[in-house]
Formats: sequence, C-alpha cells, structure tokens
Amino acid sequence: MKTAIVTGVAGFIGSSLAERLLKNKFKVVGIDNFTKYYPKKIKLNNIKSFRKNENFSLLTKDILNSDLRGVFNKADFLFHLAAQPGVRASWGKDFVNYSKNNIHATQKLLEYAKNTKSLKKIILASSSSVYGIQDGKMNESKTNTEPVSPYGVSKLAVEHLAKAYVKNFNLPIVMLRYFTVYGPRQRPDMAFMKFIMKSLRKKPITVYGNGNQKRSFTYIDDIIDATISSINVSKNGEIINVGGGKINSIKKNIEILSNLLEYEIKIIHEDFPNGDVNRTEADTTKAKKLIGFKPKISIKDGLEFQYEFVKKNKGLYNF
Ligand SMILES: NC(=O)c1ccc[n+]([C@@H]2O[C@H](COP(=O)([O-])OP(=O)(O)OC[C@H]3O[C@@H](n4cnc5c(N)ncnc54)[C@H](O)[C@@H]3O)[C@@H](O)[C@H]2O)c1
Repeated sequence: MKTAIVTGVAGFIGSSLAERLLKNKFKVVGIDNFTKYYPKKIKLNNIKSFRKNENFSLLTKDILNSDLRGVFNKADFLFHLAAQPGVRASWGKDFVNYSKNNIHATQKLLEYAKNTKSLKKIILASSSSVYGIQDGKMNESKTNTEPVSPYGVSKLAVEHLAKAYVKNFNLPIVMLRYFTVYGPRQRPDMAFMKFIMKSLRKKPITVYGNGNQKRSFTYIDDIIDATISSINVSKNGEIINVGGGKINSIKKNIEILSNLLEYEIKIIHEDFPNGDVNRTEADTTKAKKLIGFKPKISIKDGLEFQYEFVKKNKGLYNF
C-alpha cells in the first residue's frame, strides 16, 4: 500500500483528494492547521466522510512550526495543497499569511523532500492566477506569467522555488496550475458558493463588473483525476494547466443557477476589485498529452452537484 501525504487536507481540494486516494487504496497522512480563513466547522465537515477510515491519519499541525521529518521518511507521494488562497484578501496586512503559508511553508516541505529518499513524486498546487491579464488561451510555455494580485505573486514564487529545487536537487516535482475549481465543498469565499447560499436565503448576490467575465471553471472531480494522474509524469519540474473544457461567463452561470433554484437571482453590481482578472482560459493540450486530462463534467451538471451539496449542508454556511 502506497502512502501519500496530503497537506491542506481539510480544505476544499485537499479533502476531495484524500477521499479519492483512500478509495484508490492509498494510505493517507493528512496535514492541516485549520487556518481561520473560513470556519473550522466547514473544514471538519469536509473530512467527516473519511476521518475514521483506518488508512487515514490527521495531523493537526502548522507546516511552519512542526517537525514533519518522520512523516516524510515513510511517504511515497506528497500532494501539497495547503495554502492561503483568495485573490481579494491578499492585499494589505494579511499578505503575511500568503508569504508564510504559501512561500515559507512550501520551502520547508521542499527541504524535507530534499532529504527524503522514499518520495517518488511531489505534486504542488499552483494557480491560473500566475498568468495575470492575458488575451487568448493561457499556455504553460508561450504565455507570460505576470500576476496582478499578491496571491498570484505568492503562487508564482512557489513555482520558482520548486524549479530551483528541481534544478539543484532533481526533486521529482510536478506543478499543476488549477483554474477556478468548483463543486461540493467549494470554499465559502468563492463566487458560486456565495451565489447559491445567498440565493437560497433570497438575498441579492454581488457581481463584480458586468458579469461578462469568463473563466475556465473546473469541476472538482476533474481536478482530482488530473492531480492523481500526475504521479505518472516522468520529467521533473513539469508545469501543467488543469482547466475545464469550455470557458463560461459568470452571467451564464447565474442563469443556470436561477433555473436550478427556480428563483430569479437578484444581482447587485459592484466595481471590479483590484487583482481580479476578466478572463482565464486554459490551454490544456499539455495536460491531455502528459496526464490524459479530459474534463468530464459540464458546468450545468457540476453546478447542480454543488447546489445539491449546499442544500444538504445549508446550516454550515452563514450568509
Ligand atoms: N479553489 C480553487 O479554485 C483554486 C484555484 C487555483 C489554485 N488553488 C490552489 O489549490 C490549493 C487548495 O485550495 P483550496 O481552494 O482547497 O483552499 P482551502 O483554503 O480550502 O484549503 C487549504 C487548506 O490549507 C490549510 N493550511 C493553510 N496553511 C497551512 C499551514 N501553514 N499548515 C497546515 N495547513 C495549512 C488550511 O487550513 C486549509 O484547510 C491551494 O494551494 C490553492 O492555492 C485553488
């Protein structure tokens, strides 16, 4: 049985990944310090379905001030998803959380990895936000990386750190640039979660700009497929976009949600916040080639699955 470390295991993507790894007969050591970015009860709910699984152990620890050498010495794979996410909150005094939980925490893990012989692959979660404002499809080698938010800068710094460890120590790292992930357990600061919760309570939602902004929205199960398949990438230091099939506007998705909710969602428009980008579109040619990535879930189905999840767990989210 292979052992995988999943950092950020109580978060949206980390918990979904751990659940699937356990189904696929991995032993999972999950690490999370339950940062206060959103409520602990949501994170505890994320891990509820597998917390008692005999192949799962939870280390409630901060990567930054814990000694994790013992854990690393027994692991075959590291999936590093722990981070301080969120574009808008990355301005101002809270940037310290981004530099600590993204840059410093990753550097600490890379140092462990450098001194561990058992690790066969290290998968790092990066983000489409490293691209910044770009026209057309975002391609890993052809598109410039010019992040326009401190969050994006911190994720790009993580990529550069990882590249330095590949170059100097040949660490078996793969970096995945996730594009806006959605579905059950989505973080409560993310748009679809806010839209659904507010609309269920018949409150108006806030849309930045005119709602024509487009994204490669990516369903959580497709992200998990790609993340697990990445353990088979042979070259060290690959960077791979993981983004949903068709780009979609916020406006269109609100229409889909209105139909699901059988309620005309009320919208308040606000100015576009600093650091947000108007458009992301993933070129997934490389993902297809290297990890056989083919997103399976349409935005219509994915939003329905998320809506069903929120209805069941309405009490967890206070909007
Ligand atoms: N959700 C998206 O759309 C998206 C898009 C692009 C990239 N990403 C990346 O994917 C990863 C997961 O994102 P998510 O949406 O699941 O976020 P999340 O906030 O739900 O999960 C991150 C988890 O990491 C934990 N954590 C943070 N700092 C830690 C530390 N120092 N020690 C231990 N645990 C710590 C938090 O408590 C949290 O539970 C992140 O690296 C994020 O940057 C996410």
